[in-house]
Amino acid sequence: MASFHAALRGTGLGIPSKVLTNEDLAKFVDTNDEWIRTRTGIRERRLLDREKGESLSLLGAQAAQEALDKAGIKAEELDAVICCTATPDTWMPISASRILGHLRGRVAVDVFTADLNAACSGYLAGLHVANNFIRSGLHKKVLVVGGDIFSSIIDWTDRTTCILFGDGVGASVLEAVEEADASTAPVILGARFGTLADFDHFLAVEGGGSAAPFTSAEFESRKKRPVISMNGQEVFKLACKHMAQKAHEVLADSGYTTRDVRWFVPHQANLRIIEMVARMAEMPMDRVYVNVDRWGNTSAGTVAVALAEMQRGGMLKKGDLVLLDVFGGGFTYGAMLLRWGTDAT
Ligand SMILES: CC(C)(COP(=O)(O)OP(=O)(O)OC[C@H]1O[C@@H](n2cnc3c(N)ncnc32)[C@H](O)[C@@H]1OP(=O)(O)O)[C@@H](O)C(=O)NCCC(=O)NCCS
Repeated sequence: MASFHAALRGTGLGIPSKVLTNEDLAKFVDTNDEWIRTRTGIRERRLLDREKGESLSLLGAQAAQEALDKAGIKAEELDAVICCTATPDTWMPISASRILGHLRGRVAVDVFTADLNAACSGYLAGLHVANNFIRSGLHKKVLVVGGDIFSSIIDWTDRTTCILFGDGVGASVLEAVEEADASTAPVILGARFGTLADFDHFLAVEGGGSAAPFTSAEFESRKKRPVISMNGQEVFKLACKHMAQKAHEVLADSGYTTRDVRWFVPHQANLRIIEMVARMAEMPMDRVYVNVDRWGNTSAGTVAVALAEMQRGGMLKKGDLVLLDVFGGGFTYGAMLLRWGTDAT
């Protein structure tokens, strides 16, 4: 029986149209450009424009179409769609189904669709699921959309969190390749994931879930709110430790070292976290992709957006080893190693 590997065939970007600079933020919250840049490396972030009809699913579909075009695959060929997000358009219908609808119109088709929430680790978790769908022979062509609209769950009066996040969506198309091609094909080589359970007091969005629904007294009294609350310093330390550890583990599993890695693409939460993880993972900064300055933290979007930008910019060459590394609410974290397989931009 044939056995399969998952090849990452194409990537795409969904770019929200509004730009919010640090100077813009300083007009309505007590902060300044210098503080934000030195503590986080962020200069500006993108925000969704609802008046223009933008939504997570619409941006996801735009990103998906670009990824499909690059992969030379038609939307009709997809047999699974996973949307990785903590901020879906609506609780129902799910955003993966909405994305498929944007791509194909109102159809009834044999396509697996599901939303997956692993907070900022979502896109890597989605790639992991897609990889295992493909390796098991269940699916052949899988779309993974990673993105978040954190502007919808930010307290814009809280300067400790509102400066950090932005909106953004990226997409990737994965395709099954037969085992025989795996030594040279652009495949996912390995992944390692972890969870810090019961750390919810460090990073949370408490209100609006079923524990404190919008209709509850706790929500109405504003004790539990549908906005991010965070202990930044604790999150910082945990992110550095666990991202570096998973990067080492996934390389060791696959028999490679950091010297073999052409690009390290970490979760883009804060430039200081990126630099610290790179140091701990022994990765020189000239091989680390950074775009947090232009996007802020787009949660499940960060690595998906980064890969799409890198492909657009022709930075990824055939055969490059690319190490992805994430950390997010939950806490969830993980690293994945893949071999890039195309020079196409
Ligand atoms: C949030 C973060 C940037 C704060 O940086 P920090 O160096 O830890 O700063 P502190 O929280 O110690 O705050 C230092 C001072 O700046 C102030 N401050 C906080 N936010 C500020 C802002 N936006 N503008 C100006 N001053 C600010 C604080 O009130 C504090 O003032 P004080 O010394 O008078 O009490 C940093 O902890 C971080 O990035 N953590 C990780 C967060 C993250 O990435 N979360 C998502 C992970 S998926």
